[in-house]
Amino acid sequence: MLKRKLGWTDVEVSVIGQGTWMIEGDQSTERLAVEALRLGLDLGFTHIDTAEMYGNGHVEELVGEAIAGRREEVFLVSKVLPSNASYERTLRACKQSLKRLKTDWLDLYLLHWPSSSIPIGETMRAMEKLVAEGLVRFIGVSNFDVEELKEAEDSLRNERMACEQVLYHLGYRGIERRLLPYCTEHGIAVVGYAPFGHGNFPSPQSSGGRVLAEIAKRHSRTPRQVALNFLTRHRCIFTIPKNRRSERAGENSGGIGWELTEDDVAAINQAFPVPDHDVPLEMI
Ligand SMILES: NC(=O)c1ccc[n+]([C@@H]2O[C@H](COP(=O)([O-])OP(=O)(O)OC[C@H]3O[C@@H](n4cnc5c(N)ncnc54)[C@H](OP(=O)(O)O)[C@@H]3O)[C@@H](O)[C@H]2O)c1
Repeated sequence: MLKRKLGWTDVEVSVIGQGTWMIEGDQSTERLAVEALRLGLDLGFTHIDTAEMYGNGHVEELVGEAIAGRREEVFLVSKVLPSNASYERTLRACKQSLKRLKTDWLDLYLLHWPSSSIPIGETMRAMEKLVAEGLVRFIGVSNFDVEELKEAEDSLRNERMACEQVLYHLGYRGIERRLLPYCTEHGIAVVGYAPFGHGNFPSPQSSGGRVLAEIAKRHSRTPRQVALNFLTRHRCIFTIPKNRRSERAGENSGGIGWELTEDDVAAINQAFPVPDHDVPLEMI
């Protein structure tokens, strides 16, 4: 599995990670999800993304189970909810996440989306405290537009913003206009979430779907592998498809380690264009 440095840090992180939103369910669904996460680790998807929000904390418990005995292999990311983003509550939320994950540290801790009531400086102060205490290695944000990101960066005193996690798939390439260039310039890693559009992957009958299928055929790949390859071409980008089934882990791992041609890239750009004007940052 290809790795690259996470933004300005020296830490190599797998370009394709494992998303865990909505992996919970009945007992057998959860058994399969834990197995899929473990297989993902075997395949080198060592970047695991979770959040206190997912399954009201239960998904962190499942992730804890999946990484038991393998913590050192994993680049573990979790997120605090904006409703918990006050100074005291962020500290508490992080400690609760650690308990559910059965680990002593998070590699990366993000604010899940901007809070409308708590000043960002207050949350960042708590994040810096967590780093100082050794509970968190790096800090970041999610679903922040460029202005919100700058404000968050400006409020940091001792640490540096390491990551921005945002929606990024073939049907939503708006971040390529301003956010991605800004993050590239400032050494902030961009983790694109929902690379398959949260279940709205282009159907094989659509014109875009046909373009992906033709390219996939030429490379002996699948359309989803083509999409993952395309979405991680940029040196600052990582992607975190949801992984709750072992067969997905196998397919998604083939999204990297090979190259699209210039013609393939041009065809995908034509089928799934970057908007020609700035669009508001979307989130799901
Ligand atoms: N920061 C944020 O605000 C935020 C928001 C959304 C997501 N995220 C993170 O990003 C991760 C990914 O996003 P997502 O889960 O919303 O959407 P996604 O990864 O774009 O798509 C998930 C959907 O694709 C399917 N899928 C995945 N691999 C597949 C494959 N190889 N073949 C066929 N279907 C496949 C899944 O099916 P099954 O369910 O049947 O496996 C599911 O329906 C989340 O799990 C979460 O960790 C972060």
